[in-house]
Amino acid sequence: MNNSIDETMFNRLRSEIHRRFGIMLPITKKSLLASGLQRRMHSLGMIHLDEYNKVLFGNEENDEREFVLLLDAMTSYTTKFFRHSQQFEFLAQTALPELIKIHGAGISRTLNVWSAGCATGEDSYTIAMVLREFAQHYPGIQFKSQILATDISAPILEFARNAVYEMEKIQSIPDTLKKKYLLKSKDRRKSLAKVIPELRAMVNFRQLDFMVPAFGLREKMDIIFCRNILSYFDRDTQERLVNKLCANMIPGGYLFAGPSESLRSLATPLTPLAPSVYRLSHF
Ligand SMILES: C[S@@+](CC[C@H](N)C(=O)[O-])C[C@H]1O[C@@H](n2cnc3c(N)ncnc32)[C@H](O)[C@@H]1O
Repeated sequence: MNNSIDETMFNRLRSEIHRRFGIMLPITKKSLLASGLQRRMHSLGMIHLDEYNKVLFGNEENDEREFVLLLDAMTSYTTKFFRHSQQFEFLAQTALPELIKIHGAGISRTLNVWSAGCATGEDSYTIAMVLREFAQHYPGIQFKSQILATDISAPILEFARNAVYEMEKIQSIPDTLKKKYLLKSKDRRKSLAKVIPELRAMVNFRQLDFMVPAFGLREKMDIIFCRNILSYFDRDTQERLVNKLCANMIPGGYLFAGPSESLRSLATPLTPLAPSVYRLSHF
């Protein structure tokens, strides 16, 4: 297959993705969709698009997972465990100790983390692993935390809740954590692993569209991860979205953005701290 798809195929996939996920791919994403198709076909050992079409459009229920995998295979939708790993180091080494010191977050009250635009859940479970590991610094104390994970797409959230990943997707998890937090499928023919129940219990998945006027969250967040999403939107929408995120944060809370998403030109109450890490001004 060459790296292009015709107009008819693009439009068919585009409207199907919109119908299923509520995501409207702009025409500029055509080549990304083509590269996603190519990757999925390669993974399934397929050469002809017709074969893959049958998988996609053969059966309304079974092809749901394949559509999620196709979206995930598109470069701009791809997510992974421990993506931009320096940010998780910053989380454990700087943000969490600071939030404990100033706000008692996690110790005298529950620490609230929001994985906003969580896609298939890799970011959310990575945060959960980092929090669990961090809690071990406080033996004898019950470190209390909860993670809200949201996305616009219900089927993507279903995938995230189910927490079953191809083995190749878990490669980016450090070995010690992989052993602790993932269970390999007993069926050796299936190259799959599932996140352990204790980690899944830390994450509450919920459907939420960033475009609604107010998010209506019950808790103010100590930490928000909103990475690799802002670039979908124009500058004004980005500014509105970031300010809405700030309205749902405690003063002194941390916002993690994607490395290619600079918020410096937006009018927001955030102070840059480290590459793509911001703090809501407070004192
Ligand atoms: C590239 S993924 C980012 C995943 C993860 N945050 C990361 O950095 O790896 C972008 C996600 O944003 C979600 N999204 C797109 N438009 C949205 C909207 N209006 N409201 C909420 N989520 C949206 C998509 O469904 C997709 O799962």
